[in-house]
Amino acid sequence: MKLRSVRGTHDIYGEEINKFNRISNIVSKNASLKNFKEIQTPIFEFTDLFAKPLGEQSDVVLKEMYSFQDRNNEFLTLRPEYTTPMIRAAITNNLLNDLPLKIFGIGPMFRRERPQKGRFRQFNQINFEILGTKDFVADVELILLSNNILNELLPKANIRLHINSLGDKKTLIDFKKNLSKYFNSHKNKLSEESIKKIDTNPLRILDSKNHEDIEISKSSPKIYEYLSNEAKKHYEDLKISLNILEINFEENANLVRGLDYYCNTVFEYKSDNLGSQDTLLGGGRYDGLIKVLGGPDIPGMGWAAGIERIALLMESEKKISSAIHIAVTNEKFINYFLHLQKYLSENSISYYWNYKYNLKKSFTKANTSSASHIIIIGENEFNGNFFTIKNLMTGEQTELNLNQIFNHLNDKSR
Ligand code: HAM
Repeated sequence: MKLRSVRGTHDIYGEEINKFNRISNIVSKNASLKNFKEIQTPIFEFTDLFAKPLGEQSDVVLKEMYSFQDRNNEFLTLRPEYTTPMIRAAITNNLLNDLPLKIFGIGPMFRRERPQKGRFRQFNQINFEILGTKDFVADVELILLSNNILNELLPKANIRLHINSLGDKKTLIDFKKNLSKYFNSHKNKLSEESIKKIDTNPLRILDSKNHEDIEISKSSPKIYEYLSNEAKKHYEDLKISLNILEINFEENANLVRGLDYYCNTVFEYKSDNLGSQDTLLGGGRYDGLIKVLGGPDIPGMGWAAGIERIALLMESEKKISSAIHIAVTNEKFINYFLHLQKYLSENSISYYWNYKYNLKKSFTKANTSSASHIIIIGENEFNGNFFTIKNLMTGEQTELNLNQIFNHLNDKSR
């Protein structure tokens, strides 16, 4: 058997794990600044949690869920997204007593999509939700938060915020009816994939990437004409606030999102540097979802971003390793070296040794790892009861007693 990882999965290490850790730190910092509490849910749930809320005709439910029957014949699914599990957790743990509830989570999701650049079958998401308020200010706060996080992580990336409003359930039903009618009258020019969606999920034709579909969608009915006065006001208030905050946005009437639970505000951040999987972050309002899941009839709103896609746009950090390398020239000095190890550990000084009693190999390793210093333990050091410490940036070499090392490292701009 050839050893390989499953298609669409990937191991995260080296530069990428550094980026993942940076993303996670910045997300946690911003979450705590805005008082979002972290929540972790299991990676699998009952299949029913996803099928209806995400949309029985959505691609995720029709083609992409990893579902299986366990030994009790229960139908389980690896979570394809985080919003429904988070709401499930809020309901089952009685977290909805004190509203609004502001929660966030980071972790892996699973979708059986065709793998390509920025698209995996196991990928990681950052996810923020506010449950229990209809106020457009919550929409503003969530967009501001996403903007802060992306600006901090990707200061130089060219990303664009797209927004749209989908109105309420009635708006969507009327709009879908008229959209189906329109697409039916242009059926002969649509792609095969879109023809299948005319009656079941016409919204998805609007964000098709096929050229002919895009041309036909340009003259399709626009949702704004179907919005109620209340939905229009919500949308207008949001736009005024974004302008006040100087957050640039584009209105995109064809932005409909891939999951069925959305209403009113929807938004996405896109980048031209991601290839065809150009959406970095997406979200919106889902005012009927919590009730559908068996909770109270309260509104909600949130967003999720793909960590792999953010990492693709992040620049690598050139790190000078702060580790001190050790060179031990002979096995007979090992006990002397143990005293040094004890001292370094007690003083929280990070160090590295390659288990090779060879000065040259230790120097090569220190140089290729961009170590700042190397401490040499050889015949002279052992006999004289001192340590030689070399600053690899300046070349300066100093002889020190054990208890002088900490001060020396701190004095000499480590
Ligand atoms: P989504 O648009 O399906 O929304 O996914 C959000 C983000 O996850 C995408 O913009 C993308 O960056 C990343 N993503 C999705 N699929 C993949 C994949 N196969 N490989 C790599 N990255 C991927 C949701 O999941 C909603 N639950 C967001 C939300 C939260 N809405 C309200 N609250």
